[in-house]
Amino acid sequence: MTTTFFETPVEHKAAANPLGLKGIDHIEFIVDDADQWRDFFINRYGMAARYYADERTGVKGRRAHVVGQGRINFIVAEPQGRGPEADFMRWHLDKHGCGVRDVAFRTRDASHSLDEAARRGAKVLRPLQGDANFRGGSIAAYGDTIHSFIERAPHASFAPGYEAVHGHAEKGPIHFAMIDHVVANVEHMEEWVKYYEEVFGFDLFMHFDINTGRSALMSKVVSSTDGWIKLPINEPSSDNSQIKEFLDRYNGPGVQHIALLTPNISETIAAMRARGQEFLDVPDTYYDEEFDRRIGEIEEDKAVLKRLKILVDRDHDGYLLQLFTKCVFTRPTLFFEVIQRRGRALGFGEGNFRALFEAIEREQQKRGSL
Ligand SMILES: [Fe+2]
Repeated sequence: MTTTFFETPVEHKAAANPLGLKGIDHIEFIVDDADQWRDFFINRYGMAARYYADERTGVKGRRAHVVGQGRINFIVAEPQGRGPEADFMRWHLDKHGCGVRDVAFRTRDASHSLDEAARRGAKVLRPLQGDANFRGGSIAAYGDTIHSFIERAPHASFAPGYEAVHGHAEKGPIHFAMIDHVVANVEHMEEWVKYYEEVFGFDLFMHFDINTGRSALMSKVVSSTDGWIKLPINEPSSDNSQIKEFLDRYNGPGVQHIALLTPNISETIAAMRARGQEFLDVPDTYYDEEFDRRIGEIEEDKAVLKRLKILVDRDHDGYLLQLFTKCVFTRPTLFFEVIQRRGRALGFGEGNFRALFEAIEREQQKRGSL
């Protein structure tokens, strides 16, 4: 097994934020059953229903719920009736199964973002539309994924035709603040790194090659200069790579995982487990002496982390705690990550690929099967 990590320093460019982006506004999923997936995010992820749209509220071709917590907004939308929008959504579902259609960014000026993106080489898929309260447009990204630029007046509704749902915002044990990062699986990483550098003015933030013997991948992280938007991009580097499996099952590039930032991972994971969310299995051997050597002093009780099977990774400036859900849709494609950052940890848990693999090997040795 060979694992190499190397980080490139953040390069600050003169035009730091050419599109004027403020962060991730929302993520839109095209799903088979909008009610079911709304309930899924409410029941297992502690989110609240925020908005609803369909033909009655003035949106053609879809039934959509917006659920969220903190600054996170997810649209779960299913096709309704006939027409170009509904037909497109059915086509998307047939090709990809349930999955992410749009990683949408909030912007100060949607018209500027769209024009500047186009000038820098992006393909505009939806020209600017809206009014003084809401303006938006979209460009093409990897596979059938798009990026919308959203400009919203203060106190405006989520989008035209989306009615506020006056449900109760849950104050429960599941705590999410914002989207930490969104990961793409693509065939050709360099092409998409170049796209985010050239169109968005993002910086190359980190680069790692991971080869666990079982599965190999290369990853580069591009980031907005202010660090609010972090997009790791993976490419398979072996035929049995989990990235290759994603590309086969999703029928092309797409969003592999969405990391949700929490201020309290222990409470969050405990509650999500109690509500039936399944996570990646972590062998007990992950927490043996190698863990102490790798991680050193931490604020959390190691016994609690071991019981909840929470992963830890240290970098130059702090450490992070994380855990990955099992794939959530019928096809083994998209999953979520729950992440908490301590100190000024900037990594993505690269050390855990290796640590998990070695822990599984030690488990096999214990069983005498290696
Ligand atoms: Fe991640």
